Amino acid sequence: MNLGNRGSILGSDEVEASIESPRLMDSRSWPLGGCVIGGVRMEGAADIDWDSLTFSLTQTDYMYVAECELGQPWHPGEMRRYGNLEIDPAAGVLNYGQGIFEGMKAHRTVQNNVVLFRPDENARRFQRGAARLGMPPVPESMFIDAVEQVVAANSHFIPPSGRGALYVRPVLWGTGPIMGVAPSPSYTFCVFVTPVGPYFKGGLTSIELVISDEFHRAAPGGSGGVKAIGNYAPGMMPSKNAKKNGYAEVIYLDAVEHLNIEEVGAANFFCVKDKHLYTPELTGTILPGITRDSIIQLARHRGYEVTETKVSAEFAMQSDEAFCCGTAAVISPIGSITHEEEKKVYMDGNVAPITRELYNALTGVQTELAQDPFGWLHKVQLNLPLNMV
Ligand code: PLP
Ligand code: COI
Repeated sequence: MNLGNRGSILGSDEVEASIESPRLMDSRSWPLGGCVIGGVRMEGAADIDWDSLTFSLTQTDYMYVAECELGQPWHPGEMRRYGNLEIDPAAGVLNYGQGIFEGMKAHRTVQNNVVLFRPDENARRFQRGAARLGMPPVPESMFIDAVEQVVAANSHFIPPSGRGALYVRPVLWGTGPIMGVAPSPSYTFCVFVTPVGPYFKGGLTSIELVISDEFHRAAPGGSGGVKAIGNYAPGMMPSKNAKKNGYAEVIYLDAVEHLNIEEVGAANFFCVKDKHLYTPELTGTILPGITRDSIIQLARHRGYEVTETKVSAEFAMQSDEAFCCGTAAVISPIGSITHEEEKKVYMDGNVAPITRELYNALTGVQTELAQDPFGWLHKVQLNLPLNMV
C-alpha cells in the first residue's frame, strides 16, 4: 500500500501546503475512541481542527474501488485502505480524458444523523455523463451503496453539525490501455471522501467575480452538460488569473453570442430582481446542478417566482442580488461583478436578504434544522456491512 506523503494537498485557491506528515488517522489519532466493526473503527472523532477546514484534501482511511470490462457487468466493488492506484500509461483517462466525477456531501445533522443530499440525482447525472463519454454506467444502487460504505467507513471524518461536511468524490475512469481514440477496454469506479469547509474563503461572505471576455467553458454539442473531467483543466488558468487580480472566480458567458451568463467556475448562477429569481436555462452547455434545482424548488415553495431563461450579463448587472451555488459552493453571495470597465456592486457587498433566506432554507434542510418538504435527505446507517478487503 502506498499512501503518498502529504496530508492537506490542494485547496480551491490552489495553495499547495508545504510537505508535511500525512493527515492520515490511525488508532492513536482518534482521541474519542470508538467501536470497531469488521476491522473498521466506526465512531469517535478524527484529530482535526474542524473550524480550520477549507475545501482541500485531507486523506481519510478507506476508499471504494470497482472494475469492469467494456460490455460486461461491473465486478462487485470493494473497500480498501485509501492509497495510490496502479494505472497503465496508455489508459484512456490519462491520454484522452475519458473520465467523469461527482461531488456530494454527507452532513452530520443537529439530530446526529448522517445524511446525504439527493444522492439519487448524483447517481443519475453520473450515468448521463458515462453515456456521453462512452463509458459503462454504474447502476444507481451500486453507486449509492459505494457512497454509503465510504461514508460509513470514514464516519470519524464527518465534521460536527454546522462545522463542515464530508465531501464525497465518486469518479469513473477509462483505465484500460488504448492507443486509438476510442473507449477504453476497461473501467474503474472509485469513491473517496475528505472533510471540507467552505469552498470560497470566509463561508457566507460575498465574493467578487469577473466576467471573462477571453475564455468560454463549454460550447453547444460539447460536454459542458456533464461532469467530464476534461471540462475543468481549461478553467484553471482563467481562474488563477482572476484570483491574481483579486477576484474569487470567473463568470463564463455563452460561447455563441457571448452575451448570456452560463456558470461561475464550477457553480451555477442566480440573480434576483424585484424579488423574482432568474437562473440560466439548461441549454446543454450548463451543468444541471442539483443545488440549482433544489434552490428553484425551495424558492418556489417559499412563494418566489423563479424563471429559467437566458440571463444576459447586462440584466444580471442591473439586478438586486446575485449568488452562485453548488455542492462545494453551497450558496455563495456575489458582492460584485466586474465586466470590462464596469463594476456592479450588490448590496454594498453585504449578504442580500433573499440570498440569505435561501442559504438558511437549503442548509436548514441539509442539517435537519428545518423540515425536509421534498424528502431529499438520505440517511446513512453507520453500522452497515462493509465489503472490506
Ligand atoms: N457547475 C459546474 C461546472 C460544476 O462542476 C458544479 C459542481 O458540481 C455545479 C455547477 C454545481 O452542481 P451541484 O449543485 O450538483 O454540485
Ligand atoms: C462540486 O460542487 O461538487 C464540484 O464538483 C465543484 C468542484 C469542481 C470542486
